[in-house]
Amino acid sequence: MPKTLIEPFRIKSVEPIRMTTRAEREQLLQAAHLNVFKLRADDVLIDWLTDSGTGAMSSRQWGAIMEGDESYAGARSYYRLEKVIQDITGMAHFIPTHQGRAAEKVLFTAVCKKGDLVPNNCHFDTTRGNLEYMGVEALDCVEAVGLQPATIAPFKGNIDLARVEEVLQKEGARIPFGMLTVTNNTGGGQPVSMANIRAYAALLKKYGKPFIMDVCRFAENAMFIKMRESGYENTPIPDIVREMFSYADGATMSAKKDGMVNIGGFIVLRSDEWLDEVRSDLIMMEGFPTYGGMAGRDLEALAVGLQEGMDEDYLRYRLRTAEYLGEKLDEAGVGFVRPTGGHAVYIDAKTVLPDMPVAHYPAWALCNALYLEGGIRGVEIGSVMFGKRLQDGTETYHSMELVRLAFPRRMYTQSHFDYAAEVIAEVKEQAASIRGVKITKQPKFLRHFTAEFDWV
Ligand code: F0G
Repeated sequence: MPKTLIEPFRIKSVEPIRMTTRAEREQLLQAAHLNVFKLRADDVLIDWLTDSGTGAMSSRQWGAIMEGDESYAGARSYYRLEKVIQDITGMAHFIPTHQGRAAEKVLFTAVCKKGDLVPNNCHFDTTRGNLEYMGVEALDCVEAVGLQPATIAPFKGNIDLARVEEVLQKEGARIPFGMLTVTNNTGGGQPVSMANIRAYAALLKKYGKPFIMDVCRFAENAMFIKMRESGYENTPIPDIVREMFSYADGATMSAKKDGMVNIGGFIVLRSDEWLDEVRSDLIMMEGFPTYGGMAGRDLEALAVGLQEGMDEDYLRYRLRTAEYLGEKLDEAGVGFVRPTGGHAVYIDAKTVLPDMPVAHYPAWALCNALYLEGGIRGVEIGSVMFGKRLQDGTETYHSMELVRLAFPRRMYTQSHFDYAAEVIAEVKEQAASIRGVKITKQPKFLRHFTAEFDWV
């Protein structure tokens, strides 16, 4: 067998990307106030800002789009997708939303109240945002190893069961349900083991609490289980997925990830206990229950995408892609969150810029350097994203300075990855010339999206 794992598809439709010169990029970044979020996508060569809604759809999905039934009520496309989702998840009720955060908002509005507490391995920022907005405490309980970038372990997304039990004992009355995010995006795209899912479900059951999963990347998680957890080596992915869902009472999903579509999301629920409340909130916030926040054509594309996202050849190639870039970074002496996750590689900026003070935002500086050197756009997960400016003008800093390179699905080929590895290695070589930044303007919340910077 040849060693090279190829992209398990051929390309039918292409979209040109534009090479810019370094001088152009310097101007463009300056005009964007040194914030890559403010760049025009046309000025980016390799866009690894996010894997969310950015992937390529298949010819089967584009074909399905023509079948979309745009009826307001009772559309055929709704029933088609409902059947697919019921088969995949084993859950009775499917509630479509326009994306993941809308699913969260609708569910939380129906079920949570001020003063509640929701444990999770790590809440994604919209999940945390939606809960905190309602006055609910969003508690991260990932196992300690999940916060150590250099430590290698197979399931660094696992939730700390002892910690959760302690919280259930002390704060049980405040907890409407427990959550679990697969894979753990905030913690490096790390998977959760089946054993951990099973044990967490049993623990929640013991305390009479429902179990809700955030399943954006359920298929990638299932593939990690197949590759790393004993007993699952020969289990087909749909069976692993079904077992994962079998322990939960419901789930929220951003279909923009493993749903392989550009927009969409949903809630699934096993019982009808919350259903009336959820559906009436859905009608207020998203739309009628048979389309929620989605067009009929998007429901069709998702029905196909969910199945394609579980294809084993695709998933093997998908996880291998991140691992491959990790190997190249290793050769270049660049540190990253180990092992590589499902959808992204998280570079540890402190290994590239060990001498840069945190006050000069090393991960932000590295992000800028990747754009200047090679037109690559990643996202800072460090002290700009998570630090806070205090009343007295001083700042709190984040424990890690990471740059996330997140890979759109079925979009970039191996040579794009080879190119990126060269750019990153070159940036590391020239680390001494990389300049830190200072913030010149920032909003109160989520400052990384719109803040403006200048060189230190
Ligand atoms: N949960 C997780 C774990 C996510 O990663 C995301 C989105 C959401 C919920 C919200 O879904 O964007 O459809 O509203 N993550 C994207 C990212 C934005 O870049 O990681 P959404």
